[in-house]
Amino acid sequence: MSEEQKKSENRSNPTTDEFRAFVKSGWAPRHTGSPERAEVAPYAATRRDAVSAQFPGDRLVVPAGGLKVRSNDTDYVFRPHSAFAHLTGFGSDQEPDAVLVLEPLPEGGHDAVLYFKPWGGRDSDEFFGDTRYGEFWVGGRPTLEDIEAEYGLTARSIDEFADAVAKDAGKVTVRVVRDADHDVTEQVEQGRAASSEKATDAAAVQSAAEADDELSRFLSTLRLVKDEWEIEQMRLAVAATQEGFEAVIAQLRDAVAKGRGERWVEGVFGLHARHQGNGVGYDSICAGGDHATTLHWIKNTGDLEDGEVLLLDAGVEVDSLFTADITRTLPVDGTFTEAQRTIYDAVYAAQQAAMEAIKPGVKFSEIHDTAIRVIAEFLHEWGLLPEGVSVEDTIDKEHGQYHRRWMVHGTSHHLGIDVHDCAQARRADYKDAELRAGMVLTVEPGLYFKADDELAPVEFRGTGVRIEDDILVTEDGYENLSSAMPRTADDVEAWIARITSR
Ligand code: GLY
Ligand code: MN
Ligand code: MN
Repeated sequence: MSEEQKKSENRSNPTTDEFRAFVKSGWAPRHTGSPERAEVAPYAATRRDAVSAQFPGDRLVVPAGGLKVRSNDTDYVFRPHSAFAHLTGFGSDQEPDAVLVLEPLPEGGHDAVLYFKPWGGRDSDEFFGDTRYGEFWVGGRPTLEDIEAEYGLTARSIDEFADAVAKDAGKVTVRVVRDADHDVTEQVEQGRAASSEKATDAAAVQSAAEADDELSRFLSTLRLVKDEWEIEQMRLAVAATQEGFEAVIAQLRDAVAKGRGERWVEGVFGLHARHQGNGVGYDSICAGGDHATTLHWIKNTGDLEDGEVLLLDAGVEVDSLFTADITRTLPVDGTFTEAQRTIYDAVYAAQQAAMEAIKPGVKFSEIHDTAIRVIAEFLHEWGLLPEGVSVEDTIDKEHGQYHRRWMVHGTSHHLGIDVHDCAQARRADYKDAELRAGMVLTVEPGLYFKADDELAPVEFRGTGVRIEDDILVTEDGYENLSSAMPRTADDVEAWIARITSR
């Protein structure tokens, strides 16, 4: 009995051979023809070609990952590992436990083979007997032919994976994306250990881990510049996110009146994210009042009150798994107070300056440096930096950084299939690299004055402001993909008035 079956044994009903035969029979044929080739398929093939060229002769193992237990016998909804999704083109409707293997070919290049658990048929034991994977319980799965037709991959049953990954052990270098699926990584490790005595010594283990890291790093770096299909997905994600924000604005009065308003905001955005796409790309930050000064406020347990601002940082992940990442800071009653507007205008100025710095050839880190200079100038003008500390002093990376009390986070990150995309890329390819056309990144400065910050002006305390937009680097500058969402203080107020008076 499997672990999963044991967990529900006390609730299960005994079945007879007669019933099992009965439940497998009498179903109409399922398939009406092959699916069409997916639009993403040629783009995914081009991405795989780049990986193949980088690692000639190596076997490359990129797992989708498996189901993750939420509690006891219930799993989280499955989402594939981003490297796997990028190289296959699979979106939200695919199954757990698949593994993409780029198998080196004698003539050069690689065959892209997808190992997965194909549909077992209604006459299989799994159909009714497996509550975690059986079609009767959790729905159907593709066949090998479906996958070959839709994605242009060679498809094999996962039952063949163990032999395939161990083939020619010791003669072929095997690299695996280690964090995607613990069991697959373990299988690769065992193959390595068995293939050579030497593989068990510390140096061999170290070099295998380095070989794996090199693969993960390359796959992350490959996503720095988006192809046209990916840019289109980002546009869809941003448009869906705008709908979610506007739905929240339409419900602001309800959110105040009902109490527990942050939860209401989270739910309304989540509803639209799920309806428009796969769901939220990350847990929404729905932060009223002082909660907005807690950067990772995802508890969303508070009320919303008139007179406060709501910092809403949220993004829709579309079906292809690409996500937007947008923040608007909204006066709950529709009008900024004078102090809120003062802070807001400073953040806006920093964001605008940082955006205007964006063009190919400019260093990624320059975006942050530009925003921080503006933030530091305001903090200095407001007399908040320590006595004798100038703007130059605080932006001095070695000795200053006083401004970080109120703006602690980075201004930008790459965005795509992960909200913090390309996270394994080297610093030289990310923070210290020059911007290139096709990159998508956020610009998101903020200022956060905690309610109990005795160094902040009284009227600023308990207010957090962030403005975050999603930017495409173009050949000659940038395009703000989220420019349809109002950004200046006046435009935000007009936006709220327009939507709430409908
Ligand atoms: N929402 C996460 C971020 O802005 O980076
Ligand atoms: Mn962000
Ligand atoms: Mn964000």
